[in-house]
This record gives sequence, C-alpha cells and structure tokens, in this order.
Amino acid sequence: MFIVFEGIDGTGKSTQVKLLAEALRAQGHEVITSKEPTDGPHGSKLRQSAETGRLSAQEELDLFHMDRKEHVEDLIKPALARGVVVILDRYFFSTMAYQGIRGFDPTEIRRLNEKFAPIPDFVFILELDLDIALSRIGGRDGQANEFEQRDALQKCHDVFASLTDGFVHRIDAGQTPANVHKDVLSDISGR
Ligand code: TYD
Repeated sequence: MFIVFEGIDGTGKSTQVKLLAEALRAQGHEVITSKEPTDGPHGSKLRQSAETGRLSAQEELDLFHMDRKEHVEDLIKPALARGVVVILDRYFFSTMAYQGIRGFDPTEIRRLNEKFAPIPDFVFILELDLDIALSRIGGRDGQANEFEQRDALQKCHDVFASLTDGFVHRIDAGQTPANVHKDVLSDISGR
C-alpha cells in the first residue's frame, strides 16, 4: 500500500505520517516513512537553496524530478515490491502545486511524473484555513512577506483542491492531530 500526505505548509503532514505509521505497525504491517524533498543530494540542494537564494524555476523543477526519480528507484518501488507500506510526506502533487506557482502547467507536471512515479493508493490532502496555516508557519519563511506568502499558499491550495481522483481524500486539518488521525484511519479502513 502506497499512502501520501499533501497539503500546504503548516497543515501537520509530518505528525500525521508518524501517527499513521505507528498505527499500521501496531496492526502488524511493515511500514517505511519518507519525505520529499529527500535527504539525498538533489533534495539537500533544494533545501539549501531555500536559505541561500532561490534557483531558477527550471533548475528547481529539474531537481525535484531528479530527486523523485532516485526516491522512486531506490526506496519506493523496492519497498512496494516487498509488500511494505510506504507513507510519504509530499509527492508529485506538491510539484504540481508549488512549481505550478512558478509558471509551469500542473497538468503537464503530472503527466511527466506519471511516466516514472507510481500512483498512490491514498492521497490525503490536509486542508486548513489559510490564516491558521500562516499563523502556524509564522516566521518559518524569512524572505517572503505575508502577502506573497498568502498568495502563494492560496494558489497551492487551489491546485490541491482541483484534484478529483478517486484516491484523493480531503481531511479537515483544523481538528486536533488525534482527530485528523482518526479520519485518516477511517478512510483507509473504509476502502
Ligand atoms: P516541507 O515539507 O515544508 O519540508 P520542511 O518540513 O523541511 O520545511 O517541504 C519543503 C518545501 O518544498 C515546501 O515549501 C514545498 C516545497 N516542494 C516543492 O516546491 N515541490 C515539490 O515537488 C515538493 C515535494 C516540495
């Protein structure tokens, strides 16, 4: 089973990845958790660029794709082939949203990714009011001013909101982490 958490910054994805991994392990499943950008060379370069100055839009897109190709080949595909549950904090839906903001067509980004990246069984989109998300991440991004940040997050939210696939589940991330987790579990067991 391949499960992905998506959502704008500040929605609590990493907490939910941890809670779900613990719950599935307690049920006896072998679980691997990971995130994108990864801690590999391309992912590290992307994280660094957030501090040292942004790369060009094309360079950034290429790095996210190179990072994901390695992630798919080295971790995701081998784990799924062994029957291990894989849970990710962000995947190519984030590229559609965030690189979409930088001028690329989200549909085209998706098409490129689907050539090499397996489709998840579940994509949980954690949805949160923009003001709450902004207050949760307050100060995390030293460069963008609040208006730029709000505009960018709104556009990302809109891309996530446009996904209509059957594997996409929307979760109210304004609840307590425990209740968000309950909703996630009930969607998984209700399949
Ligand atoms: P994030 O999950 O916020 O990492 P951290 O918890 O280390 O801050 O991801 C870092 C940023 O990368 C986030 O703002 C979204 C962005 N991102 C993209 O722009 N494109 C992508 O394809 C992915 C996976 C992430």
